[in-house]
Amino acid sequence: MNIAIVASSLSPKSNSRILAQKLAEKLSLVSIDVDFIDLRDFKLPLCGDEDDHYHPLISDLTDRIAGAAGIVIASPIYNYGINAAMKNLVELTGKKAWHDKVVGFICAAGGRSSYMSVMSFANSLMLDFHCLIIPKFIYIAKDFDDINHIPDDLKERLDQLAVTLVELAEHYPVETR
Ligand SMILES: Cc1cc2nc3c(=O)[nH]c(=O)nc-3n(C[C@H](O)[C@H](O)[C@H](O)COP(=O)(O)O)c2cc1C
Repeated sequence: MNIAIVASSLSPKSNSRILAQKLAEKLSLVSIDVDFIDLRDFKLPLCGDEDDHYHPLISDLTDRIAGAAGIVIASPIYNYGINAAMKNLVELTGKKAWHDKVVGFICAAGGRSSYMSVMSFANSLMLDFHCLIIPKFIYIAKDFDDINHIPDDLKERLDQLAVTLVELAEHYPVETR
């Protein structure tokens, strides 16, 4: 099984990316193929720019996301939402990439009150692309200096996310007769 993890923070020292890397390690340990997409590695055009859909990076990313059984979005919370880089990726890659995917979230925020910030984005994935959203997402409002110093409760939540993602991705979409 192939799981894509998209780390959308462009910040060099990103908490959401640290957790995304930790999740990738956990999935790899149980022989899941992880495609780690770090958006810092892609100079993407903004959706709506001239020729945006013909950009070679976009077809590459569309194929990588389309080829995954499940996807984890690791995003910063900016202005009570996911960051613009992540939204831009979905706008550029669209239904061909995201249709019928199981999607989990890891969110890094500055404070606790933005907890529900991903919901409008999650709703659009659900209603537009029929994604199955894992409701128990990871939300942290805490700085990490080191990937090796993640608190135990958070490690446990990453384990739960990994298990739920793999279980659901195995069965979704449900075959209908
Ligand atoms: C432009 C901007 C907007 C932000 N908006 C919010 C916000 O609405 N709610 C919040 O809790 N934190 C907000 N923050 C804080 C970030 O979510 C926090 O720094 C987080 O660690 C970023 O994720 P990252 O470490 O993965 O890059 C904002 C930060 C920036 C730079």
